[in-house]
Amino acid sequence: SADTLVLTPPLGWNSWNVFHENINEKQIQEIADAMVESGLRDAGYVFLNLDDNWMDTKRDAQGNLQNNPKTFPSGMKAIADYVHKKGLKFGLYGDRGKRTCHHYNSNWQSESGSNGHEVQDAKKLAEWGVDYWKYDNCDSDPRTQEKDYTAMSNALRNSGRDIVFSICMWEYKDWMPKIANLWRTTFDIGPEWISTSWYRGVYEIIDANNKYWQIAKPGHWNDPDMLEVGNRGLSYEEQRSQMTMWSIMAAPIMISSDVRNMSNETKELYLNKDMIAINQDSLGVQGHRISDKNGKQVWTKPLKNGDIAVALLNNNNSTQTVECNFKDIGVEGEVEVRDAWKKKDLGPVSSVSIELPAHGSALLRLVLKPVPREPFKGKPLDIPGKIEV
Ligand code: GLA
Repeated sequence: SADTLVLTPPLGWNSWNVFHENINEKQIQEIADAMVESGLRDAGYVFLNLDDNWMDTKRDAQGNLQNNPKTFPSGMKAIADYVHKKGLKFGLYGDRGKRTCHHYNSNWQSESGSNGHEVQDAKKLAEWGVDYWKYDNCDSDPRTQEKDYTAMSNALRNSGRDIVFSICMWEYKDWMPKIANLWRTTFDIGPEWISTSWYRGVYEIIDANNKYWQIAKPGHWNDPDMLEVGNRGLSYEEQRSQMTMWSIMAAPIMISSDVRNMSNETKELYLNKDMIAINQDSLGVQGHRISDKNGKQVWTKPLKNGDIAVALLNNNNSTQTVECNFKDIGVEGEVEVRDAWKKKDLGPVSSVSIELPAHGSALLRLVLKPVPREPFKGKPLDIPGKIEV
């Protein structure tokens, strides 16, 4: 059922942050190839989602949504087949209003919005083999948000195909978890820690998304928007912190860089196994901030096997030492600690104290099984008159 489509946060790729409206068939096939060859698919990044501008501005004579015939000449069914043959899932983007956001800004005649066409469009998506539908909010009536999103949710659920429903309304509303698998909690992300432009910075998004941590459940996730990792703008530390925080916040991780040409550094950020395991943990709890001392933050996320994931985040513009005493998060005594980014075990400890550069982070797993001790080598019953047994 719709509730079990994404029991862990969806992982994949989205075209918007990297290519914006400039997408085409050949490039998308190459992205699919690269997702397989680079190991992204096998690491769990299975969705390949096209964002705005895959569609034509005109509907056909029957009112059906159609692909742009110039940029996607083979049609959406062929693209979906190509993607599926690669072992990936295929996602598309639409809008609840009269036209999509890009068309709203560029073409007033466009008929790309699904308003009034929900049932017809959902059927078409199912026919093409679409697995994920991101549904935007442009050129729409603010009074009919719930009604419009519910209409599409019902249409998808009756389409005969399992299609993940991803609401993009730039804010959370309490009717969303009932009808959708994920919903954007914020306005669009941009490649800065704190924004100096129209978009939201990565840290601003982290802060806003944290408010809703108790809402997230297996099958229904808060969506703090896609990655800026691998694109220009963020420092390397900031990119790693985006991964750390998307992991601990059980966020959908949608890569949006040109994965045909990845640096090794970028690839290592995406493919880190400990990071992915924390994000994909089946308990499905969104980690949240438990302390913030002058920008030195501790975040925790309980995991299915009883372990606890801990993120340390330095939200200062200078290097700081961030500490976590495990007593403060309910862990008595010494435990093993696995450092995801350093790829090493920190040994049995009862606290950590880690130096982090500006906007840097650490991602840790506290392994909460008893730490084996050296067997006692002395003579335990060395008392006169006692008989050893
Ligand atoms: C909105 C969404 C973005 C992206 C663009 C496409 O701004 O929030 O994620 O889909 O539209 O036009």
